[in-house]
Amino acid sequence: MDGSVKTSLGVQRIEGVLHFGGVPVPELAETYGTPLYVYDLAWIRHRYQHWVSRIPNVKFVAYSVKTNANLAVLKTLASLGAGADVVSQGELRQALRAKIPPDKIVFAGVGKTPEELDLAAATRIFAIHVENPGELEYLAAHHPGTRVGIRVNPDVFPHTLQEIATGSGSSKFGFPLDQVLPLYRRFREKLRFVGLHFHLGSQIRDAAPYLEAIEKVRPLLDALDHPEYLDIGGGFFLDYQQSWDEATFWETLSPVLADLPVPVIVEPGRTLLAQAGILVTRVLYVKEMKGIRYAIVDAGMNDFVRPALYKQIHRIVCAEEAGNSQILEYAVVGPICENTDMFARSVRLERLEPGDLLVILDTGAYGYVMASNYNLRPRPPEVVVEEGHHRLVHPREQVPPIGPVETG
Ligand SMILES: Cc1ncc(COP(=O)(O)O)c(C=O)c1O
Repeated sequence: MDGSVKTSLGVQRIEGVLHFGGVPVPELAETYGTPLYVYDLAWIRHRYQHWVSRIPNVKFVAYSVKTNANLAVLKTLASLGAGADVVSQGELRQALRAKIPPDKIVFAGVGKTPEELDLAAATRIFAIHVENPGELEYLAAHHPGTRVGIRVNPDVFPHTLQEIATGSGSSKFGFPLDQVLPLYRRFREKLRFVGLHFHLGSQIRDAAPYLEAIEKVRPLLDALDHPEYLDIGGGFFLDYQQSWDEATFWETLSPVLADLPVPVIVEPGRTLLAQAGILVTRVLYVKEMKGIRYAIVDAGMNDFVRPALYKQIHRIVCAEEAGNSQILEYAVVGPICENTDMFARSVRLERLEPGDLLVILDTGAYGYVMASNYNLRPRPPEVVVEEGHHRLVHPREQVPPIGPVETG
């Protein structure tokens, strides 16, 4: 978080009690139960404005809905003037529900169904980002005149995890550069080619891959008739352990963006949302085995899968600290029947007892949206806080529906 953040924003410890958005975390757990996702809307507002102010020549910000599709979050971003990057019919409908204007929505995705293409064309979104020749054929036949952008695969490796690198040549996304102009020439009478799009991957720390990709697509941009934008995707780095030099990243990229013949669209996700969310969980049991002290909590990998899927370490803290207790090392694990259901292998916390509350930090991005019903567990509720107030946006699921237990 940057130094100018007002005190009621985000996470703050007051007399040993963790507060989020000005609300004591134990009060949230008491009111809504655990596990529980909480998002700070004021923090999102602050972060959005600060982040956008650094980028020159922006047509609009297409917030990546896949990051966090909570309706209150989307409405907050819409009120700030954000558009949306969607990748499914569900995300498109949710963005429209949040009153994001259709003319600020772009729709990418390597496997859009005919039904999804029909909906995108009917709602007159800003551009469909096409990734297959078949999509162009379908749109030309059924929705001539549709605004399309071509998603190119610039074959740039963004030095991030292989699992989240999408702009390298061997990934399934977009078109290779040499296919773009032949497709443009083939379909230009039928469809309106309004821009180009790439998305290099996620967790990209360095400006160099963006610069390389822009240099590669620039000749294509010059070859289009009256292009309106270049969409440089998302993927902006977030350090889950400490802060990083975001200013230098944008200082390196800005002159190149400012110098383009068209404005840019950016598709941030994680960088806006990760620190806007926490996952609150309660310790069920504590036990020791072969020298490992386990804290078994009521959240599992079905609620928050990033540590299991990407080995991402998230900071974990106690909701209440006595300040004078013993500090011990814990493995924090969930109740799911998988070894990978582990949030931390070794974290130092005050001595834990069953009933204590823990908070997994920076879970606002790729948290709830990736939750599942694995082990037939209900997904947790989503609550928003803002300057000392809280409200439920999305209740806890009931899986399977609660009722008399069938025994026969
Ligand atoms: C097309 C597209 N745009 C934007 C994003 C957002 O990426 P991030 O959250 O890393 O900024 C993604 C994430 O996978 C994506 O696929």
